[in-house]
Amino acid sequence: MTLTWLHLKVHFVLSEIIMDIQQFLGLFILLSIAVLFIQYYKRRWPVANFPPGPTGWPFIGTILSIRKEGFIRKIADKLIPQYGKIFSLMQDVPLVIVTGYDVINEVFQSNKGFDFASRKEPMHILQLHNPKKLGLFLADYSERWQQQRRFALSTLRGFGFGKTSFERKITDEVSLLLSHLKDLARVPQDLSTLLTSGVANVMCDTFLGCHYDHNDIEFQHILHVMEESFEIHAGKKSLVLDSVPISRPFLKQHAQKIIDLYEEWYAFLMNKVAEHQKSFVADSEPRDFIDCYLAKGLEEPDIFTIEDLKYVLSDMFAGSTDTTANTLKFALLYMVMNPDVQEKVHQESMRVVGTSRLPCLEDRDKMPYTAATIYEIQRLSSIAHYIVRCATVDTTLSGYSIPKGTNVICNIWSLHLDPNLWPDPERCDPTRHLNDKGEIVKSQHVLPFGAGRRMCMGEALAKMELFLFFSSLMHQFKFHLPPGREPPSLDHIPGFTSSPFPFEVIIEEYL
Ligand code: HEM
Repeated sequence: MTLTWLHLKVHFVLSEIIMDIQQFLGLFILLSIAVLFIQYYKRRWPVANFPPGPTGWPFIGTILSIRKEGFIRKIADKLIPQYGKIFSLMQDVPLVIVTGYDVINEVFQSNKGFDFASRKEPMHILQLHNPKKLGLFLADYSERWQQQRRFALSTLRGFGFGKTSFERKITDEVSLLLSHLKDLARVPQDLSTLLTSGVANVMCDTFLGCHYDHNDIEFQHILHVMEESFEIHAGKKSLVLDSVPISRPFLKQHAQKIIDLYEEWYAFLMNKVAEHQKSFVADSEPRDFIDCYLAKGLEEPDIFTIEDLKYVLSDMFAGSTDTTANTLKFALLYMVMNPDVQEKVHQESMRVVGTSRLPCLEDRDKMPYTAATIYEIQRLSSIAHYIVRCATVDTTLSGYSIPKGTNVICNIWSLHLDPNLWPDPERCDPTRHLNDKGEIVKSQHVLPFGAGRRMCMGEALAKMELFLFFSSLMHQFKFHLPPGREPPSLDHIPGFTSSPFPFEVIIEEYL
């Protein structure tokens, strides 16, 4: 009897202790969760009056909204009705998405363009392959970046970018491309590799002082490495890697794959630099961009280092090849989908150029329909469909408070396809950009090269290349879809800039 009573007593005391422990643990867990949420909320809403948006969750932020919708434009279409044209998301750090010309223009021009002149691409992957944020594209707004940009721009101008003195380099490549196409006539072809090779060779010549045969295995391999690194970097797994820190231990292999690709790309560039260093003669006529940079490095060795050169070269080369080639691929796609426009471009080139030569830069002003078509393709394709900037100081944007270091993403795609600005926005209609006299009229609402302090450095060169490649292709060949095939998709594959899905065309040479 006593034993049972004692037993019960012990049991009672023990259960009380267990209950106390359970209560304590429960309270501890609840408190930890509360602290976690408070910390998350503090990071999610860094200042009062921060742009609204979905709150998200600790550890994963708002990745669920991002993953479901994919491209920024689709996210914006979904969230704008609820939060307005400026809203925020949480991608490891808060970021603000802006839509509409007025706000985008404010980002580019605010305080003479200074307030949003930094760049802070998300995030983790960048730290893996460019931890010091050197070079041009990804660099913060800093004295060092300004010096690199000023030097690169003046060197490019010295080479004659945007002027007829540089034209020859491009027309040589155009002629090579046309001769390849003649061999491919009448059989369905995917022309993306040839287009990328043609554009890349202009850059090889200018920056690296070399030229490749289109079939060269090393050349094709390195272009593939460049494209693949961008494509994987822009893919969904990378988005998770960048946005959700707790995913990183599980995505190590993926991260390593990206690093390996970047390292291979950088090794290719650094090999070219090493070859130049061996044969470089100070005070002699520079052979290309690398020589100019090495000479500058002798004058200011702390600023123009070999490490800086690696990232500057990568930004110039990859930034110019990927963008221009992707625009040309979309140009071809829109032309096969709009044969009437293609025919008009061809007719204009026949009228102005005739049959005895290829189009040249002097023809550009006399071919407004062609220029308007290129402009329309840039609007429709929006290959740089969003532009990332970062606040250099604590500032405001359309009345909202934006703390220093906040990423701001300009939704260019929505601007280019806004039905209030462009009736029937998805229709390819170059005449939107022509006035009553048939002259081309540029719109402030078409911003393929960005604007302000971080605006594209290669705009003049890109326009030359686009005109010479595009007008020559339209002058010499008719492109159409293989009979009986489904029309190709106009969707985009994300990358550094986006590209069309692979498609084949039939080439017919005009005789
Ligand atoms: C169709 C062709 C091209 C398109 C659509 C394009 C588009 C862009 C865009 C949207 C930006 C960001 C601008 C901003 O933040 O406001 C940019 C930056 C840049 N582009 Fe281009 N680009 C093209 C061709 C080129 C070429 C040919 C070069 C080099 C010769 C080049 C070099 C650069 C560099 C270095 C930057 C970074 C500038 C900085 O952050 O200071 N781009 N480009």
